[in-house]
Amino acid sequence: MALPFLGTRTRSRDQITAVDLGTHTFKAVHIQQKGGKFSLTNYAIQDSPGLNGPLTPQSLGDALAKVLQPMGARSKQVALALGSSEAILRHAELPLVAPSDMRTMLKYNAKNYLQQDLSDHVFDCHILPPRPGAKLELKPGQKCRVLVGGVPTRLIDDILAGAKLAGVIPEVVVPGLVGPVNAFESAQPERFAESTVALVDIGFRNSSITILNKGELMLTRVVGIGGDRLTSGVAETLGIGYAEAEGIKLGLPQEVESTIVSLLSPLARELRASIDYFEHQQDCPVNEVFVSGGSSNSEYIVQFVQTELVVPCVTWNPAAFLTLNLPAQKLSELEQTAPRLTTAIGAALAAL
Ligand SMILES: Nc1ncnc2c1ncn2[C@@H]1O[C@H](COP(=O)(O)OP(=O)(O)OP(=O)(O)O)[C@@H](O)[C@H]1O
Ligand SMILES: [Mg+2]
Repeated sequence: MALPFLGTRTRSRDQITAVDLGTHTFKAVHIQQKGGKFSLTNYAIQDSPGLNGPLTPQSLGDALAKVLQPMGARSKQVALALGSSEAILRHAELPLVAPSDMRTMLKYNAKNYLQQDLSDHVFDCHILPPRPGAKLELKPGQKCRVLVGGVPTRLIDDILAGAKLAGVIPEVVVPGLVGPVNAFESAQPERFAESTVALVDIGFRNSSITILNKGELMLTRVVGIGGDRLTSGVAETLGIGYAEAEGIKLGLPQEVESTIVSLLSPLARELRASIDYFEHQQDCPVNEVFVSGGSSNSEYIVQFVQTELVVPCVTWNPAAFLTLNLPAQKLSELEQTAPRLTTAIGAALAAL
């Protein structure tokens, strides 16, 4: 199964429904393309079955059908984005051969190239252009820089089975980590091309940081802290249940601000460490941080991350480049919802 990364497109489509299979919520978007212009015609958000235990084909199929039902699906083809805990994304140096041969090499010898034993995974590769000034000699054994995506074969099988139950065909499956990159390239083209930025997605169980330097993906890291840790911490501190803690976190955030920021400190430290590593390696500062994911709706969370990282941080709108052809209710809610649609929008772009 193809795992197209960044701008790699196997075939041009004029519309696609993409679903981000998040751990907390599934997010679906429908995007149309006409004459090089993109429009958002619908979106939907539903609880993820992952909240109540491991994914099974049945639970996945039910949840997919539920999130796609209000979308008024115009075709059965969908693009799916997988969570950062399931789909890995790595830089690697591989011999310069056809991507299909690279996939075979990784299948049988992932440890050698990725320093991790990833047996029973499906891989895909995106060959990165040589750095400006780098000498490209086409000689035997020539190596090249490659972005590698990998997903457990079992998960792909479960997804195919679940999609079948939901009556849809997953034409494209992407590691969710490429979603924010694709969406950022379209929503902020100048910054993407000219600046050095970090994209931070604060998810449910995990958060991710991706550093882009003048259009090149330089580094991705996943940190095992997200909104779930914040809610659990509030529940523990106040001695209350999870649902009540979630209600306070969302409804009366000022009451738990000090608890939340102390719980966020380890995440901020990990993000700062990634930025430090990049800046040290490349001798180039990260100018801005763009935050997405559910928790980016909270002003004080973004503010705290900014204070800890000492880099300007903003919540960004991944739908900024889209013409909005939405039902009235969804149009009015989009401003709040958009940061959670980042990965789904990016997955749709990978498929169009
Ligand atoms: N306004 C808000 N303030 C603080 N937290 C919020 C707010 N809105 C949503 N969240 C939190 O965002 C989290 C869900 O985020 P999101 O929808 O990005 O997760 P996900 O994409 O399903 O997870 P993952 O990316 O880890 O698979 C929940 O923990 C929720 O409490
Ligand atoms: Mg997510």
